[in-house]
Amino acid sequence: MANLQLNQVQGNLEKLTLNRMSEILPDYLKTAADRNLPHLEFIEGLAEEEIAFKTEKTIKYKLKRAKFPQVKTLDTFDFSFQTSISKKKILELANLSFIDRKENVIFLGPPGVGKTHLAISLGVKACENKYPVIFYTANDLIQQLTSSLADRTLDKELKRLLYCPLIIVDEIGYLPIDNLGASLFFQFITSRYEKGAIILSSNKSFSNWGQIFADGILASAILDRLLHHANVINIKGESYRLKDRKKELLNQEKE
Ligand SMILES: Nc1ncnc2c1ncn2[C@@H]1O[C@H](COP(=O)(O)OP(=O)(O)O)[C@@H](O)[C@H]1O
Ligand SMILES: [Mg+2]
Repeated sequence: MANLQLNQVQGNLEKLTLNRMSEILPDYLKTAADRNLPHLEFIEGLAEEEIAFKTEKTIKYKLKRAKFPQVKTLDTFDFSFQTSISKKKILELANLSFIDRKENVIFLGPPGVGKTHLAISLGVKACENKYPVIFYTANDLIQQLTSSLADRTLDKELKRLLYCPLIIVDEIGYLPIDNLGASLFFQFITSRYEKGAIILSSNKSFSNWGQIFADGILASAILDRLLHHANVINIKGESYRLKDRKKELLNQEKE
């Protein structure tokens, strides 16, 4: 009889999509009896388990949808190696209010200094706080926009991207962008202007953006919108990728 009742309660919890509560209910009932848990504490514990389970599921889903090339976090970033970065500024950005203010974050600097690591870390933090995020390389984004132009779905695509409160565009400047690509990127930036946050990384200083887009006028129109509400992090320093390699080579020289 008790079993039948338990099954019924579990069935009801599942109808309410409280699956985790249903799953742990049998063990939880035993623990509660052993410890003589008051009713309120019993239901409190069960509900907390369900919330923790659902939160983890949501975060996993957001991380998967974001399509980060790797998962990086701020706690693995060695700020003492890259002294040109203000840790305080990065931690301030990690409170994510820039997303609600629809501001941009731009990481500039030579290869290997941690631009992608920091961009992903902020993106992961946003996922953990349940914001939808998408990670693109500049090249992938432009390719995607080019295909939607060919399919006559560009407007729809730009609208779809606007539903995402944070878009990361990594590696602007590594590959040259042709006129069509530049025009599509301009439309992307214009559509998000004051409507959605962007994190962008580039190895080229703003004065050299004319070279990336092969059109100085378009480059300055892009920068004009991008920089109006932007947090620019200029990283000057050595490549983290080369730090161990350099030590190795120096040691070899000494031998
Ligand atoms: N200050 C740092 N602390 C820890 N790891 C770092 C740091 N800077 C870079 N890295 C690591 O070095 C590699 C290159 O960094 P990355 O962010 O890809 O550089 P960038 O995008 O500027 O070229 C990555 O594996 C990254 O996690
Ligand atoms: Mg990078």
